[in-house]
Amino acid sequence: MAERVTLAGVGKRFGGGPAVLQGIDLALAPGEFVALLGASGCGKSTLLRLVAGLEQATAGEVRLGEAPVRDVDPRCAVVFQEPRLLPWRSVAANVALGARHAGGAASPQRLLDQVGLGDAAGAWPHQLSGGMAQRAALARALAGRPDVLLLDEPFAALDALTRLRMGDLLQDVRAETEPTTLMVTHDVDEALRLADRLVLLAGQPAAVRAVYAAPPRHDAAAIARLRAEILGHFGLGADAHAHARARPPEAAIA
Ligand SMILES: Nc1ncnc2c1ncn2[C@@H]1O[C@H](COP(=O)(O)OP(=O)(O)OP(=O)(O)O)[C@@H](O)[C@H]1O
Ligand SMILES: [Mg+2]
Repeated sequence: MAERVTLAGVGKRFGGGPAVLQGIDLALAPGEFVALLGASGCGKSTLLRLVAGLEQATAGEVRLGEAPVRDVDPRCAVVFQEPRLLPWRSVAANVALGARHAGGAASPQRLLDQVGLGDAAGAWPHQLSGGMAQRAALARALAGRPDVLLLDEPFAALDALTRLRMGDLLQDVRAETEPTTLMVTHDVDEALRLADRLVLLAGQPAAVRAVYAAPPRHDAAAIARLRAEILGHFGLGADAHAHARARPPEAAIA
């Protein structure tokens, strides 16, 4: 069952260093898909790791459903910025690992077929390209039919076409299991295509700068306006916008 994810006044600092995140208030409705955008180093992965329970907030609270994240064990899956496959297991065995705690989990072979790796089930991780390994990591995350799906630039290593295909796959997964999804991406077009809402992190320490509802998929004019506004937030002017438009779907924030 999809879970509500709530961040209430969340702050994070590492050791005695300056705060990385401060005063983050954000709630994801069960089954909602939120894209998280922000400049490199602003704290997006840190925020994702807080939701995953891999880091502890130093202020405020992260809740899954009604309970603090440290007290619950939801079916939460993470795709990290790098694939993190176990090198001593075959690709299929890596994917099966994602399903080990889940009843009625999806079949590894079906998932590998869906991410275009049907023929690589018996391969070893070192035999995969970066993009193939990242797709295997996505299959592993989906294998447990997670309630909460956390994606940290999962498609960064993929070519534009494969990226589009993986986006379609995520939409299929949503239609089937509706996980509450938080996806970090640098790609504004990808965010506009996939997400219900777009959240912009900015500042030092980073806070939520803006939250936008994604316009309906068919409203090209509204999508173009929001795209320009978001790129403007990151100091990318009309030229960068036009340039990015000439090379869809890679309107990337550096
Ligand atoms: N374990 C850690 N110890 C100390 N500092 C950390 C740790 N993890 C992250 N940081 C710092 O927190 C800040 C935010 O890092 P984070 O990885 O969350 O950024 P990001 O927005 O995901 O960047 P990118 O887009 O490049 O992936 C950086 O200054 C980073 O050095
Ligand atoms: Mg990151």
